[in-house]
Amino acid sequence: MKTILGIGAGYVGGPTMAMIAKKCPEYKVVVVDINPDRIKAWQSENLPIYEPGLKEVVQETLNKNLFFSTNLSEHIAQADIIFVSVNTPTKSFGKGAGKAADLQYWEKTAREIVRSSSSDKIIVEKSTVPVRTAHAMEYILNANSKGIVFDVLSNPEFLAEGTAIQDLEKPDRVLIGGQETARGQKAIAALKELYMHWVPKEKILTTNVWSSELSKLAANAFLAQRISSINSLTPFCETTGANIHEVSKAIGMDSRVGSKFLCPSVGFGGSCFKKDILNLVYLCNHYGLPEVANYWEQVVLMNEYQRKRFVQKMLDAMFNTVAGKKIAIFGFAFKANTGDTRESSAIYICQELAEEHAKVVISDPKALDNARLDLKDIESSLVFEIDPYKAAQGAHAIAILTEWDCYRTLDYKKIYESMEKPAFIFDGRNILDHNALFEIGFSVYPLGKTALVH
Ligand code: UDX
Ligand code: ADP
Repeated sequence: MKTILGIGAGYVGGPTMAMIAKKCPEYKVVVVDINPDRIKAWQSENLPIYEPGLKEVVQETLNKNLFFSTNLSEHIAQADIIFVSVNTPTKSFGKGAGKAADLQYWEKTAREIVRSSSSDKIIVEKSTVPVRTAHAMEYILNANSKGIVFDVLSNPEFLAEGTAIQDLEKPDRVLIGGQETARGQKAIAALKELYMHWVPKEKILTTNVWSSELSKLAANAFLAQRISSINSLTPFCETTGANIHEVSKAIGMDSRVGSKFLCPSVGFGGSCFKKDILNLVYLCNHYGLPEVANYWEQVVLMNEYQRKRFVQKMLDAMFNTVAGKKIAIFGFAFKANTGDTRESSAIYICQELAEEHAKVVISDPKALDNARLDLKDIESSLVFEIDPYKAAQGAHAIAILTEWDCYRTLDYKKIYESMEKPAFIFDGRNILDHNALFEIGFSVYPLGKTALVH
């Protein structure tokens, strides 16, 4: 039985390796991580990440052909193909701080692979990394004195959280970048064979390594750019009387543009968009292309503007002060159907409101544990309450920050009656029936639509 190893059991590594185990029963799939608590959680009923459908895939394969372990060296030695999905956060120190990718985990992993290997291996780069990382890694790996040859492939993951399982099961495309040499092509063919267990051949694209690495950064930059573009029109709509949904529909019906990813919001979050764009910006500057760097950086700046604008709108509406006022936050995750809060706009908005001395009560069906960690520095000025009815009791305002379905169907009449008056709703995701809320008595502030104010 061939062994496939995944290093890094996070949001990317865990679900990806579980799907490979499910689709390729003749392979033994092992996932290792340096964090023993994470590994224990993967082996338990309570998986370390919430992802619809993930539990079923893990239960189907766990201890049959899917195994979790902290023993890196043993499993590296046995593996034929190694997927690396360790974290590559934005650098927080030194040169490139705040923009470049921090590759220390990747490099440590590469050195561990060299130390524990005694045969040739294919190394698959799954983490999002700067362009030319595979090249650097190949250099480190092949500088070994054991005569072992490592072929490094770039195989970026395009899954989105909340839909990871369906994205893995039916990907729009699988991208494999490899060297244009005979060895490189052989490695590509081996990885392609694995994916062909469930992905149609025509959806598997093969490119050179650098095209693959750049495509990942560019795909995220394009997606984020769409959101910033639509968000940039929301203040314009609010002041002119245009309706952002009518505008977004009219734009999206042009088949050249397409309708997806044109929903206005309090700003995009998640571990990838900002990180990858800043990474692209850093690389552009590095290669002497400041105009290109500035172009892409604007996508992130527009996102920050949208967050600031949301808080400012709350202040303006609530008579320029929220000090001492209770504000219920509905949704803290960076998007619905995940407990992940990395780079969530809610972090920034809650911090700003707390700074204005508001009494912030945070509600979210899945993300309260992460919210507590994100806001531990200001925890004393916050309340965490899973029940939205309780969170809104006695509040002056509700701010919807995540588009969870459960917030669409609440009894807002009951909520209104339990709140201070005038009662405000700031819908940062435009998921509610604004006219109905206005009829109940709320003053309603949607995004990109005229406010309905009593
Ligand atoms: C993203 C990419 O979609 C995925 O391909 C890549 O592999 C990782 O990064 P993810 O961050 O999990 O995935 O979520 P995504 O669905 O892209 O949403 C990112 C953010 O954009 C969320 O905060 C979401 O609420 C926001 N968003 C999305 C909008 O504000 N408007 C939209 O129309 C779509
Ligand atoms: P992503 O969203 O990219 O999957 P995560 O932070 O969720 O990122 O997961 C990355 C995982 O990689 C973490 O669980 C972390 O403990 C693990 N990791 C980091 N460095 C190493 C390493 N050298 N060896 C094994 N696992 C590692």
